[in-house]
Amino acid sequence: MADLADLRDRNATFWSGAAPGWVRHADRQDHWGRPLGAVALEWLRPRPGERILDVGCGCGGTTAELAAAVGPTGEAVGLDLSAEMLAAAVARFPNGRHPRLRFVVADLDTLDVVPGAPFDAVHSRMALMLLADPVTGCRTLRRALRPGGRLAATVFRDGSTTPWLIAAVLGAAPHLGALPPLPVGDEPGPFALADPARARRVLAEAGFDDIAVDFHDVTLTAPDDPDTVADWLIEVGPAGAVYRAAGPSRQAAARAGVAALLARFREPGAGYRLPAGLLLLTGRAPA
Ligand SMILES: C[S@@+](CC[C@H](N)C(=O)[O-])C[C@H]1O[C@@H](n2cnc3c(N)ncnc32)[C@H](O)[C@@H]1O
Repeated sequence: MADLADLRDRNATFWSGAAPGWVRHADRQDHWGRPLGAVALEWLRPRPGERILDVGCGCGGTTAELAAAVGPTGEAVGLDLSAEMLAAAVARFPNGRHPRLRFVVADLDTLDVVPGAPFDAVHSRMALMLLADPVTGCRTLRRALRPGGRLAATVFRDGSTTPWLIAAVLGAAPHLGALPPLPVGDEPGPFALADPARARRVLAEAGFDDIAVDFHDVTLTAPDDPDTVADWLIEVGPAGAVYRAAGPSRQAAARAGVAALLARFREPGAGYRLPAGLLLLTGRAPA
């Protein structure tokens, strides 16, 4: 197991390599990827006037949804490690048209106080499992909540429930260069909080009350465009940076490799239905 400093460096390097792909596919990630966080938004039920923090907000799509829900008297603050993704978020949701929407570049793994705290609620879609030290990061989020404030976050269950995520690596890898190191044990990565007992323990050690860890099976839908769907899934996954560095012919071969593995999820003429197994983690800061 690498030490915390190594894990943080690895995470920062990974997301600076991944950011251009996420920026390029930001609209697709918002629309096709929406089911990955819908259950957290439903649980949270943001109310007009509330102030909500969106952790690991990427290119800002969910933060903009939260800002729309809390209305002109509330505020949504998106926090992310990647300055590049947040620059894209600001460009996509300019302050003039979204005055109650702000973005903060910060690493939750090293942050002590979240700027703008206290918040009424914390939302996160597919980010908490990337923390080098999830207990410390979640403790920072708990301290950023007002007493009784609520947390709702989604993370992936094990890989067998989300086969397209594995397919996007297995189908592309033979055509690309060396991929980033695979996580071992509890190291951060897509499945680091897949064990519901561990996820519950992390929230409990971070000081949350009323903790619940619920299973959800959702389906992502995407149009019948194998090349674009493969491109999206490669770019937002672990192979994104090496894929971008490869030449056009190796990129095309990688997309074809992924499209072949995704064939069983495709209905020609209708589109893709990609299953995803999630955990919804919820809790409250002590009142
Ligand atoms: C899997 S992406 C999810 C992005 C977005 N929530 C979505 O669902 O489209 C994870 C995001 O968490 C961010 N992230 C990873 N580690 C982080 C950390 N330690 N502090 C803050 N953000 C982090 C990444 O930059 C990335 O934008």
